[in-house]
Amino acid sequence: MTVTAIVGAQWGDEGKGRICDYLAQQGAPIVMRFQGGDNAGHTVINQYGKHALHLAPCGIFNPQAMNIIGSGCVVNPQALLKELADLEAAGVNTDNLFISNRAQLLLPYHRLLDELEEAARGSDTIGTTKRGVGPAYSDKATRSGLRIGDLLNPEWLEGRLDQALATINRKIEVLGGTPVDGREIYALCMDYVDKIGHRIIDTVPVIQKALAEGRDIILEGQLGVMRDLDWGIYPYVTSSNPTAAFAASGAGLPARTLDNVLGIVKAYSTCVGDGPFPVELSDEEAERLRNVGGEFGATTGRPRRVGWFDGVAIKYAAWLNGMTSLALTKLDILDSFESIKVCTGYRMPNGEIITDYMPDTPMLYQAQPVYEEWPGWLSSTEECRSWRDLPPRAQAYIERLRELAGVDIEYISVGPERQQMFSVESGSFHLEMA
Ligand code: GDP
Ligand code: IMO
Ligand code: MG
Repeated sequence: MTVTAIVGAQWGDEGKGRICDYLAQQGAPIVMRFQGGDNAGHTVINQYGKHALHLAPCGIFNPQAMNIIGSGCVVNPQALLKELADLEAAGVNTDNLFISNRAQLLLPYHRLLDELEEAARGSDTIGTTKRGVGPAYSDKATRSGLRIGDLLNPEWLEGRLDQALATINRKIEVLGGTPVDGREIYALCMDYVDKIGHRIIDTVPVIQKALAEGRDIILEGQLGVMRDLDWGIYPYVTSSNPTAAFAASGAGLPARTLDNVLGIVKAYSTCVGDGPFPVELSDEEAERLRNVGGEFGATTGRPRRVGWFDGVAIKYAAWLNGMTSLALTKLDILDSFESIKVCTGYRMPNGEIITDYMPDTPMLYQAQPVYEEWPGWLSSTEECRSWRDLPPRAQAYIERLRELAGVDIEYISVGPERQQMFSVESGSFHLEMA
């Protein structure tokens, strides 16, 4: 039995979905999303086609897996119902999806508030996905939130909703919006009871039993460390914690049960939304990497900001998450680049070069990336299925990334499809590079 957390090692969109889909095919694991909401866009390509999953854990394609949306999540039932309908239309059986009764309920007024709050920020926006995630977590923290389990207790829910709306409607008015009608929201909730009531569970006995039986558990994170509420580029962050320390809490597991922390990292950098991004490229260089990489948001379709691999960010991410290994994705995207840069440090205005940690946001805006340059391998890696298949220059590049991260690379993916990925046998690096 192993408990593995899958976490984003950069700014999100590292390929967590495809790695989770791959790992979830093995046996009958429990796959649990531990934070976030439908701001996620986790792309999976397999025999069911191409899906960008927003709330459903990426183990959904394995009928033997039990998929749970954990208590650390915020759940918009409307978004979930659409997602389930799309999956079912593609032939996926979704009977194996459950929702923690302790997860927060994301309601239409949260989306409205997300829009209004972004508008109120004027020119200094966060660039949120406008899925209502921030306002839903705010309500959780101020104890005005409703929980998924409340749907099964209508009287309780009605009282909680009345109390919550008294302040929420005042806030909506202050921000220039139209207050919402409590009766309409209540009716919507009763509709949700009919449609998802049978999926609501208390996860604690389920997890206790799974641990006792020695089942594997995969904890699927959303976004990445640089958008962590505490350790990311605050305030340009999401409103939850995508780092491994929070995986146990968001899933309802004792922290010491976590065996593996698998960091997912792209062979270069991307970022959606605002805030400092030291390795950001501009003009034709950016255009080229964005187009070759297909870097457009899976949830919002926004063009992603792009840059070379950031060795400072990965070192910080590996340390903060206590990563036990890495999965490197999108190596194939670099196949056609004559030369590839890697950021190894940030030069600060006082001349200091930072290599091991991300400075706080105001300082990060002043960081100048220090690059080294690697020769490209100029051949396709898409058909590679082992370390030995990779061109020597690609091996050298990966070895450098491993060195910067200080963590072994366990998986490499060379294309978006399930089979375009392989595990690196331990010892391969030193053997081949010697
Ligand atoms: P997530 O949010 O971390 O799951 O990542 P996204 O799905 O938002 O973004 C990753 C994108 O890269 C998706 O379009 C994937 O289909 C694609 N992808 C993942 N791994 C690879 C890879 O190794 N090569 C290529 N070419 N595309 C990949
Ligand atoms: P996955 O799970 C990339 C970014 C937004 C914004 C900030 C806050 O697919 O990697 P939010 O809507 O969460 O309040 O927005 O976080 N963001 C993402 N960026 N991938 C995601 O998810 C993201 N989810 C949120 O662009 O900068
Ligand atoms: Mg994504």
